[in-house]
Amino acid sequence: LFHLTMAIATRFTRRFGLDAPIVSAPMGMLAGGRLAAAVTRAGGLGLIGGGYGNAEWLDQAFADAGNVPVGCGFITWSLARSPDLLDRALARAPTALMLSFGDPAPMAPAIHAAGVPLICQVQSVALARAALDAGAAVIVAQGSEAGGHGGDRGTLTLVPEVADLLAKTSPDTLLLAAGGIVDGRGVAAALMLGADGVLMGSRLLATPEADVPDGFRATILATAGDETVRTAVPDVARGYDWPPGFLARSIRTDFVDEWHGREGALADPATNPRERARYWAGFRSGDAANTVVMAGEGVGLVHSVAPVAEVFAAAVAEAEQLLAGAEARIRR
Ligand SMILES: Cc1cc2nc3c(=O)[nH]c(=O)nc-3n(C[C@H](O)[C@H](O)[C@H](O)COP(=O)(O)O)c2cc1C
Repeated sequence: LFHLTMAIATRFTRRFGLDAPIVSAPMGMLAGGRLAAAVTRAGGLGLIGGGYGNAEWLDQAFADAGNVPVGCGFITWSLARSPDLLDRALARAPTALMLSFGDPAPMAPAIHAAGVPLICQVQSVALARAALDAGAAVIVAQGSEAGGHGGDRGTLTLVPEVADLLAKTSPDTLLLAAGGIVDGRGVAAALMLGADGVLMGSRLLATPEADVPDGFRATILATAGDETVRTAVPDVARGYDWPPGFLARSIRTDFVDEWHGREGALADPATNPRERARYWAGFRSGDAANTVVMAGEGVGLVHSVAPVAEVFAAAVAEAEQLLAGAEARIRR
């Protein structure tokens, strides 16, 4: 039913044979096979969140997707340390392979050789150029509103600046916008900025298909857009060695408020093991106060848990209506 009501065709939907110009973010460990498959079934492009890389988790995620075609995303700098994982993912004939955060060049040849479209998520114009050099078929311009790791450029200016770069230097490369897009207003705005589609992360955490504990969903519904912060707390807590320039936008839970600005103390060997155990216990049980819930500013626009198909149908219908009426509204 939802499927039939969708009607936004772009270069991106045509190239990938989709009904909705929406890709699901490859959110590490939270975007499993169920979410990715639900996104594909809803007409979008579903991606498994391979994250930092774990062979068992990856196999399980592809198994959970069953016969539904899905792609896969990795954190580039982490994947570079275990290149066998890339081969493992490519062997599953993913619909696309997405790389974020780091230089895609070393991994790109294997992806091209497998005939799999390469999607690169970038946080600056300089990184967009690097993605073009690596032969990306699709570039995701990610603004700082985004949940999870990212840079400090805003979506509203980064997307059109990358659109201009592509128009000038690589017109066949497709562009998606990411960061703060949770409904039809965001989808319509992204298309107006020159994107061919969008990538959604935070909104999809509040779906039954995401591998998210209920406590996280409740926290997302209860959080206003003011209550997130870009922070190194989750990485210092976990001992993850992120390259400079990237911070993780997260909900200001008690855990984050306790340690944000006190990262040195959190890294202290006298403190870290206790807080790391607290982080993972809270993460596994969904006790949001005692862990970090990464999510973007868009959480302030998320008011219900709904299946992916409903989220997409509503967003596409709203975007279509807004785009159809745009001229009338501007003249008013
Ligand atoms: C909980 C969470 C985890 C994320 N993990 C990853 C990841 O492992 N790899 C990645 O490329 N992007 C990751 N992202 C960022 C998304 O790819 C995307 O840029 C972001 O979700 C878009 O902004 P939005 O959250 O406002 O929709 C994550 C985002 C969230 C919210």
